[in-house]
Amino acid sequence: MSETPEFPVAPASGSELAIRAAELDAADPLAAVRERFVLDDTVYLDGNSLGALPRAVPGRIADVVAREWGELRIRSWTESGWWTAPERIGDKIAPLIGAGPGRVVVGDSTSVNIFKAVVGGVRMAGKGCTEILVDATTFPTDGYIARSAARMTGLAVRPVEPARIADEVTERTAVALVNHVDYRTGRLNDLPSITAALHSAGALAVWDLCHSAGALPVGLDAYGVDLAVGCTYKYLNGGPGSPAYLYVREGLQERFESPLPGWNSHADPFAMDPGYAPADGILRGRVGTPDILSLLALEAALEAWDGVSIEEVRAKSLALTDFFLECVAAHVPPGRVRSVTPADHRQRGSQVALECAGAGEVMDELIRRGVVGDFRHPDVLRFGFTPLYTSFADAERAARVLGEVLGAQPDAVAPGTAG
Ligand SMILES: Cc1ncc(COP(=O)(O)O)c(C=O)c1O
Repeated sequence: MSETPEFPVAPASGSELAIRAAELDAADPLAAVRERFVLDDTVYLDGNSLGALPRAVPGRIADVVAREWGELRIRSWTESGWWTAPERIGDKIAPLIGAGPGRVVVGDSTSVNIFKAVVGGVRMAGKGCTEILVDATTFPTDGYIARSAARMTGLAVRPVEPARIADEVTERTAVALVNHVDYRTGRLNDLPSITAALHSAGALAVWDLCHSAGALPVGLDAYGVDLAVGCTYKYLNGGPGSPAYLYVREGLQERFESPLPGWNSHADPFAMDPGYAPADGILRGRVGTPDILSLLALEAALEAWDGVSIEEVRAKSLALTDFFLECVAAHVPPGRVRSVTPADHRQRGSQVALECAGAGEVMDELIRRGVVGDFRHPDVLRFGFTPLYTSFADAERAARVLGEVLGAQPDAVAPGTAG
């Protein structure tokens, strides 16, 4: 993948960009996938927070409620496949994150799965380990949970910038918990090399895939990642609060001891044995009764991926974010925004984050004008690009409206910019 300049030297004119957008959309192999989603004429660039509704979901949920629950009732646990939904749907997510079958189980929130992964990782780490490394720029929940996990296991937590992990890991490190894509800046961390560095020091790698799964290839099996977690309501479009997932590397599963060994993870749940014996394989990542309505909404949502490869999603994501940056350079008055998303494709996820004075009010105005992104404290405008349903015309319109909003405001410079 090539490096691209953040802002081209001679910005194209607005009308040229609109023509280019139309040409890019006409040549887009994923253009028709947009029809699989319920969308309107809003430019929706917040799929990195809550993915749009896939068309397959409402009908499926209506059937689950009316027939599977309403008519079959308790029989649905077996006859409708409810009991096995966590691992069945895990197998459907697996190819999107580079995992083979039997390595992913769906259920609980990301936060809960972080707890299972970090404590489970510490329990598998070598004796004499004294610390857990946590991505210093992490989404907050990871840090909170890691600190609690450390207190419970008698270890210390040390925050480390992802780029420094290879230098900072020692033989005393049990696990490192790292975000694959930074939620704020959209920076993509180098999963293969960080994982390899952790392994060479004898530590386990735990990756949070919330902002990468469904947006770019992850390669969990190929890179020997030990444990991973992720949510399903962003690029996987599972719906508000849809369940998260846990990945445990095949070779570790026999040693994985969940800190939440609920009855669903028992080898024989219906034996109601007072003694605990873990199930084989990834089933030991389950906890209690699965959240069936949300799980089955997610399963229907995953149909939007039929015939779509994650590689073509990645290619479109990079093209969209490049094009958006080019449109921002052309439409936005100079000095009003500063991109904090890496220009280098190798370090970019699927969002563009722009520092901007008064970002909260600017985003409110964008939303009023039909462009939905989001705002992150203190001064970041986030624009998420979901290649399954975002068009190049969306990218051009979003940048144009941003330019109109900022052009209409009194002069203010982006934090950190010279002019
Ligand atoms: C990187 C990251 N990790 C964890 C979470 C929290 O997930 P949950 O609310 O499912 O626990 C989020 C939520 O957006 C996130 O972006």
